[in-house]
Amino acid sequence: MLNRLLLLCGLLWAGLISFAVVASDDSYTYANYQQVTVSHLHLDLAMNFEQKTLSGFADLQLNWLVSDATELYLDTRDLTISRVYGKQQNGNWQQVPFILAARDEVLGSKLTISPEFQPQKIRIHYSSTPQASGLQWLSPEQTASKTTPFMFSQNQAIHARSWIPIQDTPAVRMSYSARIQTTDKVLVVMSAPNDPATARDGDYQFYMPQPIPAYLIAIAAGDLHFKAMSEQTGIYAEPYILDAAAKEFASTQAMIDATEKLYGDYRWGRYDLLILPPSFPFGGMENPVLSFITPTVVAGDGSLVNLIAHELAHSWSGNLVTNATWRDLWLNEGFTSYVENRIMEQVFGTDRAVMEQALSVQALQDELAVLSANDSILHIDLQGRDPDDAFSGVPYTKGQLFLMFLEQQFGRDKFDPFVRRYFADHAFQSIDTASFVQYLDNNLLKKYPDVVSLEQIKTWVYHSGLPTGTPAPLSDAFNQVRQHASNWLAGNIELAAMPTASWTVHEWLYFINNLPLSISQAQLASLDAAFNLTESANSEIAHAWYLLALKTGYQQIMPQLEQYLINIGRRKLIIPLYKQLTLTPAGLAFARKVYQQARPGYHPLAQGSVDELLQQQD
Ligand code: BES
Ligand code: ZN
Repeated sequence: MLNRLLLLCGLLWAGLISFAVVASDDSYTYANYQQVTVSHLHLDLAMNFEQKTLSGFADLQLNWLVSDATELYLDTRDLTISRVYGKQQNGNWQQVPFILAARDEVLGSKLTISPEFQPQKIRIHYSSTPQASGLQWLSPEQTASKTTPFMFSQNQAIHARSWIPIQDTPAVRMSYSARIQTTDKVLVVMSAPNDPATARDGDYQFYMPQPIPAYLIAIAAGDLHFKAMSEQTGIYAEPYILDAAAKEFASTQAMIDATEKLYGDYRWGRYDLLILPPSFPFGGMENPVLSFITPTVVAGDGSLVNLIAHELAHSWSGNLVTNATWRDLWLNEGFTSYVENRIMEQVFGTDRAVMEQALSVQALQDELAVLSANDSILHIDLQGRDPDDAFSGVPYTKGQLFLMFLEQQFGRDKFDPFVRRYFADHAFQSIDTASFVQYLDNNLLKKYPDVVSLEQIKTWVYHSGLPTGTPAPLSDAFNQVRQHASNWLAGNIELAAMPTASWTVHEWLYFINNLPLSISQAQLASLDAAFNLTESANSEIAHAWYLLALKTGYQQIMPQLEQYLINIGRRKLIIPLYKQLTLTPAGLAFARKVYQQARPGYHPLAQGSVDELLQQQD
């Protein structure tokens, strides 16, 4: 009787927990995570650069939530599964049946494991395949040093399943450990505490004690070396860029200190940065303890370090408090863009922070002009699409504007403590949009009545476009740039009369982005002659200039554009250029020619995007 009562309590309790943690379902996982969750993952893998595989086994520690459930559904994509074992009460491993379903284009293959009892642990022997969507394997020739191969993972949104059989949903968190064996030429690092002094012997162990979702599990290996920036922070990189990166990102410690003051303790111990090869398809990825960073932000002047502020900010918004599904991505990225900008303001001052706001808002407005109404909703309906395909600036900048709106309405004295408490109250949990709105209503709207209505909140979160009352960042510096530009364009002043010597990268970006498409070839040529824009070593300035040149038919950039597209694989920088090129027959021919050379060096994600762009034109 007592046993039954206990069981009943347990069931009720389990039901409550699973209900409290995630109210809505993630449609991008096959996992039956309402019945059973993975609480710890252990990987024991051999990394093979010749075969481009990770192979070995994964142990999944299970937490059964429902008494009569005996099946476990996992996410996989392009994995070879050889054997599955379940651990019995007596400690023995018993082989158990499994079925790997046909491959769905978006979700991959559902792995059904049917032990017919409730094992506390499952062991899956498997191997990844060379086409793993979440891994890039670079040959020594494709790296800077040319001597050592390189590999790295990019799991967000749903690529963890291409190298780990797992519950690939942000609604489930687990701690993890790993043993990775490989050639002793490479150093392996993971999104877990890394010991800078580890023996470089090809046999590496990791332990991540904090529970994280599968999209934050990460691995990389290559000719990596470490350089400390402070007690708490440091750089992992190939030797060619190690010193430059440590110098570029010297403000990282100041950023951590500023964020802790605003939003509470940094909960992850060390904070290191890993500089990836230029084929890394993103600017940055917030893998806990070790953010992954594109080398294209090592600009020499610290002008693009907001990217570090961004990835660091995810240590609160995203990694500590996590979007429950990919529909709720704005909770990760909107909060992070907001916190990023608050960090930039603290460390570099208001002028720079406002310029960065203004650039983001302009970019969002350009995007909104071409996005569908549906895709401009914060709580987006992904309509079954691959979450990668629905990616836009909306969760980032509209999300940021929403939080700036709340900040302006309530004042920082009320809003900052609210955000701080939101992080503390949801630490190591996942949250969906409806629960956030509820929390906001209870802890801010009702606490300070008649400032903002629930209706206004719902308009921001569930409606398309930008509501009236959207904050409009105003930068004095940009207004002056605008003035100078229009005077020059009208022929009233010489180029030399513009105070460009004191312009920051942000002012240059604003200047280039706002030149009219009616600008003459002679004007473009004189800008180029005076400021060498075609040769700019700043990846963002070059991007903006090339885009303008393509739109206006300024041909002089073509050789440099070719090199840019071959050397860089960061999607945000290359996709708009390819897109623009496809608009003319000559541009398309050029794009196809360049892409032939560039494609082998691109990450599978970038290959997918560009393949689609260039094939569409057939
Ligand atoms: N977490 C994102 C990258 C991401 C988002 C990958 C969604 C896959 C799906 C990362 O934090 C990010 O936002 N990176 C930006 C940084 C920028 C906004 C400063 C990037 O890569 O450009
Ligand atoms: Zn982000």
